[in-house]
Amino acid sequence: MTKTVAVIGGTGNEGPGLALRWAKSGRYHVIIGSRQQEKAERVAAELNARLGQDLIRGMVNPEAAAAADLAVLTVPYSAHIPTLKSIQAGLTGKILIDVTVPLQPPKVSHVYTPPGGSATAEAQDLLGDAVRVVAAFQNVSATHLDDADHPIDCDVLVCGDDKEAKAEAITLAEAAGMRGLDAGPLQNAVMVEGLTSVLIGINIRYKVKGAGIRITGLK
Ligand SMILES: NC(=O)c1ccc[n+]([C@@H]2O[C@H](COP(=O)([O-])OP(=O)(O)OC[C@H]3O[C@@H](n4cnc5c(N)ncnc54)[C@H](OP(=O)(O)O)[C@@H]3O)[C@@H](O)[C@H]2O)c1
Repeated sequence: MTKTVAVIGGTGNEGPGLALRWAKSGRYHVIIGSRQQEKAERVAAELNARLGQDLIRGMVNPEAAAAADLAVLTVPYSAHIPTLKSIQAGLTGKILIDVTVPLQPPKVSHVYTPPGGSATAEAQDLLGDAVRVVAAFQNVSATHLDDADHPIDCDVLVCGDDKEAKAEAITLAEAAGMRGLDAGPLQNAVMVEGLTSVLIGINIRYKVKGAGIRITGLK
């Protein structure tokens, strides 16, 4: 059975590239979520035009979460909790893959640890046991995702407390053209999220757009 993945806040920088890659893989039905139906449909139509097929639908975030088998959250940290509350009802019994990085503008290249330990831990605390939350894709630049014809030179570190949920995220990483790696429990998400600020600083200092990470030593 082909699973349906909803990209909540999928109208920004990071979400569309993920949606495009998952739709292109032929392994998922894809929904773009937004606060506005019209915006969701517009971005879905733009992506479908690039794909040359109508593979992606647009919906408001709560409907997208309810219609999907699993959801991926790509919103700024400032919108994290309000967005989670808006989709909570539709997530019961499902997996949420949280891409949110707790950046604190203007110092986005400085690692910030939020009060709940990590954005992912805050999501899990809010949603409770009814939703299995996993951290993934925080270190993948939108610039690379958008270029869907090319593989991405970046590993996806996946953190969470549920093995099956982590396996789903690893499968999604592979479908998007990357290697997904089990990076341990949800407690470790703080490191993966923090790495993004390190990469943003490297982008600035070395004048590049999409520094990424690779784990070496694996067979
Ligand atoms: N951009 C990257 O290269 C990158 C890389 C790795 C990780 N990330 C992380 O991924 C997440 C998304 O990044 P992004 O660059 O895609 O963000 P973004 O473009 O600024 O925002 C994504 C979407 O979030 C929704 N949103 C924005 N402000 C909101 C608010 N106040 N309340 C509710 N929804 C709001 C908007 O959707 P609607 O208006 O359609 O509702 C927007 O299109 C962030 O946490 C970021 O740190 C980004």
